[in-house]
Amino acid sequence: MSITPILLVGAGRMGGAMLDGWAGVKAFDPAGIGVLDPHPSEAAARAAARGSSLIPDPSTARTVLLAVKPQIWREAAAELEPALAPDAVIVSIAAGVTATDLKAAFGGRAVARVMPTTAVAIGRGTASIYAADAEARARAHALFAPVATVVELEDEARMDAATAVSGSGPAYLYAFVEALEAAGVAAGLPAGESAALARSTIQGAAALMAQSGVDPAELRRQVTSPGGTTAAALAVLMGEGGLEPLLNKAVAAAAARSRELG
Ligand SMILES: NC(=O)c1ccc[n+]([C@@H]2O[C@H](COP(=O)([O-])OP(=O)(O)OC[C@H]3O[C@@H](n4cnc5c(N)ncnc54)[C@H](OP(=O)(O)O)[C@@H]3O)[C@@H](O)[C@H]2O)c1
Repeated sequence: MSITPILLVGAGRMGGAMLDGWAGVKAFDPAGIGVLDPHPSEAAARAAARGSSLIPDPSTARTVLLAVKPQIWREAAAELEPALAPDAVIVSIAAGVTATDLKAAFGGRAVARVMPTTAVAIGRGTASIYAADAEARARAHALFAPVATVVELEDEARMDAATAVSGSGPAYLYAFVEALEAAGVAAGLPAGESAALARSTIQGAAALMAQSGVDPAELRRQVTSPGGTTAAALAVLMGEGGLEPLLNKAVAAAAARSRELG
């Protein structure tokens, strides 16, 4: 069953990333994508230049990708629902908003929930998918698989943890790089040199992990000589109050916030 026309509702940071990502891999005919947003972003303008409509007719949409902020999703849904075809399928990326609430707000239509990352913009995203309905799950796959590694969650309750690990995860890495850059400066490097070293080192290490397929724990052991410099740093990072308890706390806080948003 065809998933187009697709109606993207909200083309902000994440919706815009989807538009750019789909275009990068030519996932869909741009004419089959409509974008609904009161203030179209640059990504929406790029989509329009490729042939997508910025004044789409919601009644023609087969698949609706709901990408507005969780705080205003009910308002957006109430506005849209009467205009949709009865068999339109809803795929939502709104953090914390449950499938039950989505289904009720969209007149009982089939729904899927997805938690993506912004790297979908370059075809390297990650997307956690949950749907009770098989057709909705298939639509969510069709939307995200072209631009993301898809992980299917069997239980909706896991979406809060998936959001905390994956949806929010890119920010953890960026915060880590910021802190590494600052630590380099504190250790005596000029800011520019510290930034270049920290950024390139993290990019290379991540690429090596991806390409080799080797476990991170094994890769860590490979670069840690007993009694060496890395071992001295890891005694701090993996010691009491180190990364693991810190990330446990951070991920638990994100998961709790995801539950609150719902
Ligand atoms: N950013 C991320 O990394 C990320 C990751 C995973 C999931 N998400 C989820 O993605 C969703 C969107 O987040 P975001 O960061 O992309 O937010 P955003 O940048 O604020 O984008 C939301 C867009 O929706 C527009 N909008 C507001 N009301 C609308 C309506 N009634 N109909 C259509 N469009 C409307 C907004 O326009 P105005 O600016 O004019 O209000 C804005 O352009 C959230 O639910 C979030 O949980 C985000």
